[in-house]
Amino acid sequence: MTQTDVTPASGSERGTSGPILEVSNLTKHFPVRSSGLIRRTIGQVQAVDGVSFQVQRGQSLGLVGESGCGKSTTGRLITRLYDPTSGSMKFDGREIATLNNKQMLPLRSEIQMIFQDPYSSLNPRHTVGTIVGTPLRVHKVVPEKQVLNRVRELLEVVGLNPEHYNRYPNEFSGGQRQRIGIARALALQPKLLVADEPVSALDVSIQAQVVNLLQDVQKEFGIAFLFIAHDLAIVRHFCPEIAVMYLGKIVEIGDRETLYNRPHHPYTQALLSAAPDVKQAAIGGRRDRIRLEGDVPSPINPPSGCRFRTRCWRAEDLCAKVEPPLLQIGKQHKVACHFAGEFDAVGEKPVPSTLAALGVNRAGDKVADATVDVESLDKAGYDDTWTDLAEHRQASAQVAG
Ligand SMILES: Nc1ncnc2c1ncn2[C@@H]1O[C@H](COP(=O)(O)OP(=O)(O)OP(=O)(O)O)[C@@H](O)[C@H]1O
Ligand code: SF4
Ligand SMILES: [Mg+2]
Repeated sequence: MTQTDVTPASGSERGTSGPILEVSNLTKHFPVRSSGLIRRTIGQVQAVDGVSFQVQRGQSLGLVGESGCGKSTTGRLITRLYDPTSGSMKFDGREIATLNNKQMLPLRSEIQMIFQDPYSSLNPRHTVGTIVGTPLRVHKVVPEKQVLNRVRELLEVVGLNPEHYNRYPNEFSGGQRQRIGIARALALQPKLLVADEPVSALDVSIQAQVVNLLQDVQKEFGIAFLFIAHDLAIVRHFCPEIAVMYLGKIVEIGDRETLYNRPHHPYTQALLSAAPDVKQAAIGGRRDRIRLEGDVPSPINPPSGCRFRTRCWRAEDLCAKVEPPLLQIGKQHKVACHFAGEFDAVGEKPVPSTLAALGVNRAGDKVADATVDVESLDKAGYDDTWTDLAEHRQASAQVAG
């Protein structure tokens, strides 16, 4: 059998129109309990706090941010390893946030996950044949007598020797183990793959090979990806759209070109300045490195207003008082910063670009009706119209007086 024999039908053939995944205002709070006999809830870890995004069919969205910002929790919510605290997740047009385990079962084959650690994610006591074959058996994808053949095909697809099906995980290198994890995820012909830092545990020399493999299977099988990484350099070549998370929230989301060439959020700028840029190095250019001071604050008690303000070199009083909305400022670009678009202003004090939208003055006091319905900003995707920051500048100057 050839590779195409295990190819599921392409995304466009199987699904209808619209995104394969639409996440709106998704929240996950983990309770923090006191120690002792009577364990009372004394707080909440706000791991994911109102995130919204879409993943288009057969496309990939990169989800990037520092350790602890809620990337894995988002991935685990989508695969329903965790139950959400609130919010909506529509998979292929169907709400899955409220489904129970039994209702989720048929959908489990359509949403698969690749884990960060290829060592702990494979059972060391099972052969590769069992690991890759189990989902085929559980979901009765092929008759029992065809399972082994299908396992061999899948191993071939991910670049492993098909005759190694009777070996154990410890007989493989880290990169090969991750390939086994990918074969297991492909076994059920998913429509969406959540790849949670799939290469960060691997040697740098192996990382590119595994990313290339993922790119190949995405193109070949038309699978949509949510590609989680802490490094902007990794997602750059994989994802045409990227979302940047900080402390449970999306702070900037946009198409790759806009996000890399003209990032508006100071956090994205800092992440980008830390990411190696081969192209720029080749022409002798280099982004100035922005070093973020301090640690990420605790998600149990996040800072008021803008969560990034304790580490932001641009922060003003307004940032502590009013949370910046995730405003759409371009065709495919949203950003949550009061000073989005204003950082290039030379020789003048930047004027917050969100004042008119929120109907507040620079001190954060309410002075007018908001021009934007902030609650409507919780929805995923992009509108046909957006806030033009050049016009906004005039409006906000009037409001601020
Ligand atoms: N099961 C849990 N119970 C309580 N808190 C949790 C749980 N899982 C995650 N958290 C907390 O939620 C926050 C987000 O964690 P998460 O693992 O999603 O971050 P991440 O962005 O994937 O980080 P990393 O890059 O280190 O993998 C962290 O503060 C973490 O400690
Ligand atoms: S809103 Fe203020 S604190 Fe937050 S990123 Fe923008 S300038 Fe920095
Ligand atoms: Mg993680």
